[in-house]
Amino acid sequence: MSAELYTHARHAAISGVGVYLPADVITNADLASMVETSDTWIMERTGIRNRHRAGSGETVAQMGAQAARKAMLMANTTTVDVIICATCSPDTLFPSAACLIQRELGLAPIPAFDLNAVCSGYVYALQVAKSLVEGGGAGSVLVVAAEAMTRLVDYGDRSTCVLFGDGAGASVVSQSSVPGIRAVQWGADGGQAELIYFGPKQDAATPKDAIRMEGRGTFRLAVDRLCATAEELAAACRWSLKDIDHFIPHQANLRIIEATAKRLNIPMDKVFVDVEDMGNTSAASISLALADAYDSGRLKRGDKVVCAAFGAGATWGGVALEWTL
Ligand code: ACO
Repeated sequence: MSAELYTHARHAAISGVGVYLPADVITNADLASMVETSDTWIMERTGIRNRHRAGSGETVAQMGAQAARKAMLMANTTTVDVIICATCSPDTLFPSAACLIQRELGLAPIPAFDLNAVCSGYVYALQVAKSLVEGGGAGSVLVVAAEAMTRLVDYGDRSTCVLFGDGAGASVVSQSSVPGIRAVQWGADGGQAELIYFGPKQDAATPKDAIRMEGRGTFRLAVDRLCATAEELAAACRWSLKDIDHFIPHQANLRIIEATAKRLNIPMDKVFVDVEDMGNTSAASISLALADAYDSGRLKRGDKVVCAAFGAGATWGGVALEWTL
């Protein structure tokens, strides 16, 4: 685990963001027709009302490419040096989603690879992109976070099927005269691997691979790690959490977000929340939220932003940004 203040001569900053959401939406009423649940239960326990679902012919690579086009347009560039796709739900094990995105975008034969840190994937990819740009290995990196989580869900398991949605976010990370990406923090504890995994239910008669989760343990560890990540990032930047303009946590569940903000003493009007209409889009969550916050005019140049993620692995991580757009 590491958190460091950006002191290098070469700086990295986000120069463009983009988002893509499939048109199809799964409502709480739709879920109530599949399993024994209700809008009231789902809203009270999760704060989720709708989640997007990729159409039958719609791929992770296509969703990622759509978000990437917008991010590259905003960054005013038609080329990048490296593509990283953060995903735990690629269309196929290989070729990677990143290579398929490269093909969709018609980009030159540059390095392209996937990174799987589940819900922490976007911030892990930002850590790699920042290191490449700072170290001189790349002038710009396209970071795509794209997920089709609804394809991994067991729609007979009411404790998980209400949580997840699909979508993609993308960011261009470029060399910059100012340190827009101030600090990145990342960590993992494989000792917690059983909390959330893709596989059969341990006690199931018919083994079916799907997302499985121990809800309460996940909730507790998520709040602990999100809080620690935010505090470590603020300390690395010599910021007080009181002074930040926006806190953008992983959009897993409204109760986790509220519990984290409360423990950190961050008022909810500084906390970005779009989980109600997205559900948990895993790696795409923070990338989507950043693009949404920018598109809605909420993120302004000079704003101090702290993002924090938590996911299966267990993995966690975050990024402190001074917004430059
Ligand atoms: N509708 C109705 N009842 C339900 C549903 C549902 N969708 N799901 C579970 N229940 C029932 C359970 O069966 C249980 O019934 P019982 O008491 O008769 O056994 C009861 O509700 C309570 O179940 P709990 O699991 O204890 O409910 P809890 O209050 O913990 O809420 C939840 C469940 C929402 C999953 C919660 O634990 C949670 O938010 N956990 C964190 C999940 C998360 O956000 N993970 C993010 C990381 S995911 C990733 O990284 C890939």
